[in-house]
Order: sequence, then structure tokens, then C-alpha cells
Amino acid sequence: MTIDIDWVRAQFPAFSQPSLKGQAFFENAGGSYTCQPVIDRLTRFYTERKVQPYGTFEASRLGGEEMDEARRRMAAILGVETDELSFGPSTTQNTYVLAQAFGQMMKPGEAIIVTNQDHEANSGPWRRLAERGIEVREWQINPETGKLEIEKLEALLDERVRLVCFPHCSNVVGEINPVVEITAAAHAAGAFVCVDGVSYAPHGFADVGHMGPDIYLFSAYKTYGPHQGLMVIRRALGELLPNQGHYFNGGTLYKRFTPAGPDHAQVAACAGMADYVDAFAAHHNTDTRGVHGVMRDHETQLLQHMLDALRGRNDLRILGPTEAARRAPTVALDLGRAAKPVAQELAKHGIMTAGDDFYAVRALEAMGVDPAKGVLRLSFTHYTTRAEIDQALSALDAVL
Ligand SMILES: Cc1ncc(COP(=O)(O)O)c(C=O)c1O
Repeated sequence: MTIDIDWVRAQFPAFSQPSLKGQAFFENAGGSYTCQPVIDRLTRFYTERKVQPYGTFEASRLGGEEMDEARRRMAAILGVETDELSFGPSTTQNTYVLAQAFGQMMKPGEAIIVTNQDHEANSGPWRRLAERGIEVREWQINPETGKLEIEKLEALLDERVRLVCFPHCSNVVGEINPVVEITAAAHAAGAFVCVDGVSYAPHGFADVGHMGPDIYLFSAYKTYGPHQGLMVIRRALGELLPNQGHYFNGGTLYKRFTPAGPDHAQVAACAGMADYVDAFAAHHNTDTRGVHGVMRDHETQLLQHMLDALRGRNDLRILGPTEAARRAPTVALDLGRAAKPVAQELAKHGIMTAGDDFYAVRALEAMGVDPAKGVLRLSFTHYTTRAEIDQALSALDAVL
């Protein structure tokens, strides 16, 4: 099934804004455009339901119901039970809370494994457990390829390891890590698994229940939704970890790791992401899992075209694989010089992109890139067109 790109773009009001006309968007890994159903739900919540939810009067009841609907439908898409999904302010805050919980549960001398491929959100909070006597082992990437090699993980695993943290794909290397295989290796050694799905989720919601990790995190503002962090915590782990919420809420799984009061409107509006997935499926005559495939096929075609063109240049280094099938369309380029001024030049050609370290400082350093210079990152999604890719490539010709 081929993507109906006109239909897709009609679901995103940004594409019809006069102020954005002619601007090709290549900073999607920083935050995507928002789909119409999410905007509609946010507007409705703020105009009709902006009261304390779960109360006795109609507006309150509807607000609470919509929040429950968001959790129920997104959990179904992710292949987990409704109460195994919780919402927090951001992925970084979610990992921070989870790290507190692990810190309280673990004993000195026990170990965790983190990578140097991750965004700092799935790295720093865990590494701080060293202050509590937890041994922190680093699963290091191959400095040439940026790859996380599973043999290196196996050498780090033993009976002292309680947790393995890694990304579904890194926001600068882009390579899709084999979550099922890594999870199986960690589980076989008796460790739990925490996957940062932030960079992968915009390209298709994973069947987390099937893949097996104990924790799977992503950020809705990068998956066409509002500014929320979504966090799957499978029941066995969620009930084992000490409650981080109010003591009287500890019996409700989805309240145990979100200590702050939730952003009601944004949680409710997350149901709009499910509306989008359902509408996408219906329009393309497929089901939820099929949506992932249709998006991926389109992205992979455009990505291979982009990678082939970039590969022909001798003034840059592509981080991560150059075969589209192995990676996400989040392409970081080492220019050997400061990337931000190049992004500024590209903006004059209607290319919205960024030059930065993207909080993946450890990955850049490991690959020999000076984080102060950063990388130029071209990131796109299923709503991007071939014409926009060509616009970006021509702009690079002009600017580099
Ligand atoms: C791969 C990855 N993980 C985690 C995060 C942090 O997400 P949040 O902004 O929701 O804290 C980001 C944000 O850019 C990211 O790209």
C-alpha cells in the first residue's frame, strides 16, 4: 500500500499555513508538526472541559473520560494493558523518576548498563545511581560506525546487572537497534530493560508488548501530539519498584511513577494521536500495525535517495548506516566545522533544520565529533515529500 501523501498532509494544519509556505521541515526529530485531531481535542478541552476532571458534573466527567480514553487507546496501540501506560511531563523527567525508583530498590554492588549512544535523557539519570554505590557499566558504540554491538553487551552482562538501558534508535546515529534480541539477552541474564523509543516512535508505534522490554519511553510532541512523555512500565516491574507517587495512590499502577499532577488537557489530547493512527489505517485500508509499514516504506524510499546523494559528497561524514532499511530518517552529518552557521544558511533556502549536539554529547564524542561544533541534522517523517528532500539536497549544494 502506497502512502496517500496529500491525504496525510491535509491532516497537519502546518502544511497549509501561509507563514510556513515554501519551508521544508527537517527538524522533526526535535519536535514534529501536530495533527489536526490533537489540536481539535486540545481546543475542546481548553474551551469546554477545563475543570478538575473525574468529578460529578458533566464537563468534569467528560474531561476525565477523555484522559482515560487516551491511555486506553494508546496502550492498545502499544500492545500493553491500559494501566501499564502512564503520562509524564517529558521523557527526561520520566527517566529521572524511574532512576529514583531503581536507586531505592537496588543494593550497593549491583550494576546497571547504560550506553554512550543514548540521548542524555536515558543516560545521565541512570549514571547518577553511582552516587548510591551502584556500579555503572557502559556499553560503548563502535567509534567508526556508531553501532551498538550485541557481543559487547554480552561481555558486560552478569548476575549483578539489574537493568540495561538503550535506545530503540539514537537521535544522531539513527541505526535501529534490535530491541527484541537485546531484551532477550538482558532478560536471560536476569536484568530488566529500559528502552528510549523517542527517536523511533515518530516512524511507527512499536508493539511494545510483543517486543518485550520492561520500560519503553517516548515523547508525544515528536509523534504528532502534545508535549507529554509516554511511559510503558510492564506490570511485574511497576509493582516491584517502590511507588514514587502519593502513598495512597500506590495501588494504581499508572500513578506510581508520575509524582506530579498530570497536565489534564494534554493527556486527553493524546487520544488525538490514536485518532490519527485510526484514520490513517482506515484511509489506507490497513490496520494499526499496517500503518507502521506504510509510513516506513515511504520514509525508506526517500531516505535511500537522500543517503545516496549525501554519500557522493566528500565534504561531510554521515553518522550511522547508509542503508535506509537499517535506520530512521534522522541523518546527522559531521561537517568538520560548526554546524549551526550552516543551518542558518540553509534557513535562507527554506530549509528548517538545526546544527547542534542534540544532547547526544557522549555519542558525538565517541565518534570523534567535537560536540561544540555539533552535527547538522536532517530529520524527516512520513509526511515529507520527495520534492522537499530535493529542496534540501539543492540547498546543501548551494551552502556547503
Ligand atoms: C532520543 C531522545 N531521547 C530523549 C529525549 C528527551 O525527551 P524529552 O524532551 O521528552 O525529555 C529526546 C529529545 O530530544 C530524544 O531525542
